[in-house]
Amino acid sequence: MSKSIVLTGITTTGTPHLGNYAGAIRPAIAASKNDDVRPFYFLADYHALIKCNEPERVKQSSREIAATWLALGLDTSNAVFYRQSDVPEIMELTWMLTCVTAKGLMNRAHAYKAAVAENEEAGGNDPDKGINMGLFSYPILMAADILMFNADKVPVGKDQIQHIEMARDIASRFNHLYGEHFTLPEAVVDDNAATLLGLDGRKMSKSYNNTIPLFEKEKKFRKLINKIKTNSLEPGEPKDPEGCTLFGIYQAFATPAEVEAVRQQYAEGIAWGEMKKILFEKINDEITPARERYEALLEAPEHIEEQLQEGAKKAREISKPFIQELREAVGISKISL
Ligand code: TRP
Repeated sequence: MSKSIVLTGITTTGTPHLGNYAGAIRPAIAASKNDDVRPFYFLADYHALIKCNEPERVKQSSREIAATWLALGLDTSNAVFYRQSDVPEIMELTWMLTCVTAKGLMNRAHAYKAAVAENEEAGGNDPDKGINMGLFSYPILMAADILMFNADKVPVGKDQIQHIEMARDIASRFNHLYGEHFTLPEAVVDDNAATLLGLDGRKMSKSYNNTIPLFEKEKKFRKLINKIKTNSLEPGEPKDPEGCTLFGIYQAFATPAEVEAVRQQYAEGIAWGEMKKILFEKINDEITPARERYEALLEAPEHIEEQLQEGAKKAREISKPFIQELREAVGISKISL
């Protein structure tokens, strides 16, 4: 049986945080150890340009995200781990797909619609104010990422399901016009994946500025845990674990038995300070070895680069002949005598 191709990308605009780790990176690394799966994991650095015009930030984020995956033990003998921009065939495919994508389909993309809605609410006279073509056609670039490697499954968060559906639409259109070249991908949304709350009790997210960076130095890490907002119940007063930020994060790291024990302590009125200590120790124990590897990798970025180059080489063994096939299919080829 051939391996199922699982592909996912991470936009390089931020520093990986606990929410990214528990919700996406940890399950993806676990999946990379499954022999029935051929994972393609990549740094979506061209996606970063859509919303970030700060070159240093894009660079730094690429380094941090790559170091994170490697430090956490991504098995690069099975997984193809690469940088989108190292595979120029993806850009070429983006154009081919752009030319078979209905503009109306892009008009319906959530990210674009949300930006337009925001402009309309602000009451100006240009609904497209501040919206670049990158944002508008972002689902096409994402379709190219996916179709380039004929991915079967694409693990994503709920907000990305629409993009996978669009990739299917675009692939079908291309196949209809030029023959069966593309596999229709499926979105995989892991309902069991943890969604962590952040420092202020809202969903942990870069856009809320409430994140706890995964590999924050230990001292700062402890400080951040101590900053997580709680209610004002005193020690000795019974507390409700449901909806509690601390408990939710603890659940994402502890065994079921440990979770039950802490639930009991909530009923008995554990002090918030004590709970924060338990939480800090739990997470810190799990990530300390990886944090050390992470720091070592950032000290020796050439090792990161080497891994990415190896990944790009593997990726291009597939993308180069495939783009040639696609060029021929659309009529772009050498003039034959
Ligand atoms: N757009 C995705 C996000 O913001 C990242 C991404 C880019 C991606 N290309 C992809 C995810 C291809 C899955 C497949 O989360």
